[in-house]
Amino acid sequence: MKSISIGSSKLVSSRLAYGCWRIAGTWEPSEVTSDSVKSGIKAVLSAYEAGYTLFDHADIYCHGVAEDVFGKALKQVTGMREKILIATKCGIRFPGEPWSDSPQRYDFSKQHIIDSCEGSLKRLGIETIDLYQLHRPDFLADPDEVAAAFAQLRDTGKVREFGVSNFRPSLLSALQKACPMALVVNQIEISLARLAPFEDGTLDQCLENKMTPLAWSPLGGGVLGLHENNAPPGHKHHVSLNLQETIQAISEARGTSRSVIALSWLLKHPSKIIPIVGSANPKRIQEATQADDLELTRDEWYRLLIAARGERLP
Ligand SMILES: NC(=O)c1ccc[n+]([C@@H]2O[C@H](COP(=O)([O-])OP(=O)(O)OC[C@H]3O[C@@H](n4cnc5c(N)ncnc54)[C@H](OP(=O)(O)O)[C@@H]3O)[C@@H](O)[C@H]2O)c1
Repeated sequence: MKSISIGSSKLVSSRLAYGCWRIAGTWEPSEVTSDSVKSGIKAVLSAYEAGYTLFDHADIYCHGVAEDVFGKALKQVTGMREKILIATKCGIRFPGEPWSDSPQRYDFSKQHIIDSCEGSLKRLGIETIDLYQLHRPDFLADPDEVAAAFAQLRDTGKVREFGVSNFRPSLLSALQKACPMALVVNQIEISLARLAPFEDGTLDQCLENKMTPLAWSPLGGGVLGLHENNAPPGHKHHVSLNLQETIQAISEARGTSRSVIALSWLLKHPSKIIPIVGSANPKRIQEATQADDLELTRDEWYRLLIAARGERLP
């Protein structure tokens, strides 16, 4: 795979990232089995062998088990740590933690950011996190307090670069003003199933500030890879028949899969979006890398946009 710089930093990533949300095979730590751990390790090593060098995590993925599984995978391959970038996130807290009556909440307090980072480092079995992101905006976030936490993590060598996730442009600007370092990514949900960042200023801000957009759920959680009739229940995105047919027609014309078309569509944007591939299936993880070699034409890109919008452009 080709490589790309992350924002204005010295970090260099593969063109597609691998997302570790699903590698424990479940959200529930009590449901994790030795077989699901083996499958998770296999998925991570498949991504590594396929050329992915940016791996995305969060402290909450299966309550830390995903980071733990990744740490086990890392130990199996000599030299892997030095060849990859490890990203993780903090700031979402589960209900019932630490007190039984604690609500679900966001927490960007300095103490929580530092504690969560140390927990991730331990589970991942590493000395330094390459990219540390705030997961979802905390309504009570104080930019100066976040900046102090980031500075401490950088100065103690625990984190190299910082970013955010799911931030609206105005909050990102406020945080950037307070931070002594550049925020280098905004990890956002963007795909043919979610177009909002094209029009709400999020991508404009990435272009203006030379930040890299990381695209989570680039296949809308899988629905863009499927025929609508086969979509499993519970997919949060509805994909219209017209969009399904347009993806299908372009994938047939290009001799590739629907998933590859949906990923290539993101890659074409000038903000240099890095899609985070979330499959745990080694065949699909490998297949997704074909997107890096496929340049959609402007016409193809706009046919897909119009089908995704469900209406003509003004
Ligand atoms: N910052 C945030 O708030 C946030 C939120 C969500 C996710 N993320 C990050 O984004 C990453 C990717 O998200 P995601 O997992 O939702 O990405 P995704 O790539 O849109 O979806 C992956 C899911 O789609 C399924 N899938 C893919 N291709 C398919 C096909 N052709 N047919 C059927 N099913 C197919 C996969 O199943 P198989 O495993 O069976 O292939 C998997 O369950 C996560 O790992 C995480 O790192 C971040």
